[in-house]
Amino acid sequence: MNFHVLTLFPEIFDALNHSMIKRGCEDHKIAINPVNIRDFAINARGQTDGYPFGGGAGMVMMAQPIYDAYKSLEISDARVVYLTPQGKVFNQTLAAELAREPDLVLLCGHYEGVDQRIIDEIATDEISIGDFVLTGGELAAMTIIDAVGRLVPHVIKSESLAHESFSTGLLEYPQFTRPRVFMGRKVPEVLLSGHHGEIEKWRQHQALEATRRKRPDLLEENENG
Ligand code: ADE
Repeated sequence: MNFHVLTLFPEIFDALNHSMIKRGCEDHKIAINPVNIRDFAINARGQTDGYPFGGGAGMVMMAQPIYDAYKSLEISDARVVYLTPQGKVFNQTLAAELAREPDLVLLCGHYEGVDQRIIDEIATDEISIGDFVLTGGELAAMTIIDAVGRLVPHVIKSESLAHESFSTGLLEYPQFTRPRVFMGRKVPEVLLSGHHGEIEKWRQHQALEATRRKRPDLLEENENG
């Protein structure tokens, strides 16, 4: 899967070159292709923003450099996501849906936003990563690349995905590793028993309890279909 990112700050995406996402890129399961919108500025000063028509604070990103950056990708049928706090709130279901796409274009706004006409012209989706305002779409795009990229087949082991939070509709059960006692706190006995049936039952119970305690809204969502 290819992530094409239209951004004024392509170097930010170097931060994704670690751990599983780095491995996924090295194994050619995913590719991250940041495209610098500034390279498509039409005037000699490399200007990509302008004052808002009608007045108001801040600057607005111009449509033309974004359009030309998009056209340079030479892909016409990919989903194009504009990252904005006004978008649909991102979650695991949407991550799994996007992981089935061969190409995804992510448009990062900055300053006060982008000219509405480029959104109307190229965006197929508007996505928010939560009800707060970031200084730009880059961190949101990185969040989406990380969450979607790890769901692309063979980026991480499929067993790792089976029990994790949200994939089952519940939060994940607690995990423990060595030592058996830390600061007087013991690993639950059942996990040392070697009894797989009992361990599975305990984990399911813990997952349900954790969800009830920390995110009861997830259980209500399930009940309401
Ligand atoms: N750009 C600014 N804030 C954002 C948010 N919460 N989600 C996605 N893109 C954004």
